[in-house]
Amino acid sequence: MTQTTESHPQGVRLPRAKATALVTPEQVAASPLARYRTLVDDWDAFAAAIGRPLAPCIWANPTRISVAELAELLAEQGLDAQPVPGLPAALRLPEETKAGRNWWYCAGLAHAQEEVSQLPAMLMDLAPGQRVLDLCAAPGGKTAQIAFALGNRGTLVANDIAHARIKALQGNLDRLGVVNVTTTCCDGANWPSASGQFDRILVDAPCSSEGTLRRTPSLLPRLDPDSALRLGPRQRALLRKAVQRCRPGGRILYSTCTFAPEENELVVADILAEHPGLLRLVPASIPGFIAMPGVTRWNGRELPSELAHCLRIWPHHRDTGGFFMAILEKDPGCADEPTPEPAGLDDTDAAEWLAGLDDKYGLGGDYWTRYRANRQTRRGLHLMAVDHAPPAVPVAESSGLFFHRTNVRPPKPSTGGALLFGRDVTRFGVSLDAEQRDRYLRREIFDPTPEQRAATPTGQIIVDYRGHVLGVGVLHRSGVIESLFPSRWSGCAA
Ligand SMILES: C[S@@+](CC[C@H](N)C(=O)[O-])C[C@H]1O[C@@H](n2cnc3c(N)ncnc32)[C@H](O)[C@@H]1O
Repeated sequence: MTQTTESHPQGVRLPRAKATALVTPEQVAASPLARYRTLVDDWDAFAAAIGRPLAPCIWANPTRISVAELAELLAEQGLDAQPVPGLPAALRLPEETKAGRNWWYCAGLAHAQEEVSQLPAMLMDLAPGQRVLDLCAAPGGKTAQIAFALGNRGTLVANDIAHARIKALQGNLDRLGVVNVTTTCCDGANWPSASGQFDRILVDAPCSSEGTLRRTPSLLPRLDPDSALRLGPRQRALLRKAVQRCRPGGRILYSTCTFAPEENELVVADILAEHPGLLRLVPASIPGFIAMPGVTRWNGRELPSELAHCLRIWPHHRDTGGFFMAILEKDPGCADEPTPEPAGLDDTDAAEWLAGLDDKYGLGGDYWTRYRANRQTRRGLHLMAVDHAPPAVPVAESSGLFFHRTNVRPPKPSTGGALLFGRDVTRFGVSLDAEQRDRYLRREIFDPTPEQRAATPTGQIIVDYRGHVLGVGVLHRSGVIESLFPSRWSGCAA
């Protein structure tokens, strides 16, 4: 019988994805997913859901816009964005929407992330002041959520084994204006003890990804029933390391986007058994979200009843992807470790550059006091929350946001930097109309209006659309505006 941690929300109409079957129920029944027949409460509904495309979902960047204001912007554009019960910052978009191609996405007002992927950060019981580790972080949707739940202050370390994926993560953090994250690139299973302990650790483990089939139907013929067994050792090693690096009384959230019990409850059960008395499985529930308890019996193996405290999200219950989560709490009475000295972030010439920016853009004398800046590359300066204190090991890929290029003439704020401080400039700011906005995002040269030209001295400018900063441009003496919007972000062009 179906058990839910929360009853169906009444009176909320969710837009349903179009009924075009990308994968037929017969194909689902003939695939390795058939082994979950005994776990799923309504097999036909499950198989039908797997065949439907997934509507995209975004969340509003709390440092830039409220979800109500974002919904209004989308409505003006003719996009019917629906609230998502249980996810107060989220909006579900019509199925065909390409969120990343919109100006509001380029301006970092929102981030696209599957609904179920937004749940772990909500279950981590996050609060400003906590020291947090995201062990498998790229491409960083959850990292950004955690960063904002910490108030964009303090210390969050985001690690991934894949260097190219860390680049993508950094791009997302820059666009959203995250200043409290240090990124590292190492095997999470060998995460160094010298980094100290963390109040919260997210292990969003690499998995067989069965729960993403609605987004990537081409995965179905490639599903391999043995992959769950192959991934298990790595998942256990990552979770074991998280147990070691978690503070007494701290919490670990283990999650996957797969249905396989071998990658979910069996991993959690083994780690609990390896640490008798050290860990407690915290009952998890998400108000407004239908979830099933973890399984306690699989393939003839009986698991301790507390495994029911895990959460399973099946696609047919809320028209979502599939997901699994477990919250582990470490015994508050176990031995504590002192927090090691943080990395030395050499701030040599930063103050001079900050004063220069202050001077040019009229930001106000104490503008930069909430930040610290330093030089991590020859290209220029990074900006971090003033209390950001990453560990000295492992060596960081980068800390904070690359915000000012100083190795070019004239020096120029990066687009991420402009998005961060641009709305506070009192000089050299130009507000564009909708046509100019689109030309700016397409990296074109365009004419300012006579009023824009008269109001702004020539030189580097920060451009915005309706108060939302888009990036940096140059108002040339010849009277045209040149877009300096980065080519690698130009997928955003309207
Ligand atoms: C499910 S994805 C993480 C998604 C991410 N948390 C997010 O919300 O965007 C799993 C990630 O684990 C990384 N990974 C795989 N093995 C790893 C390991 N041994 N240590 C650290 N990261 C690993 C992969 O490169 C991949 O980016």
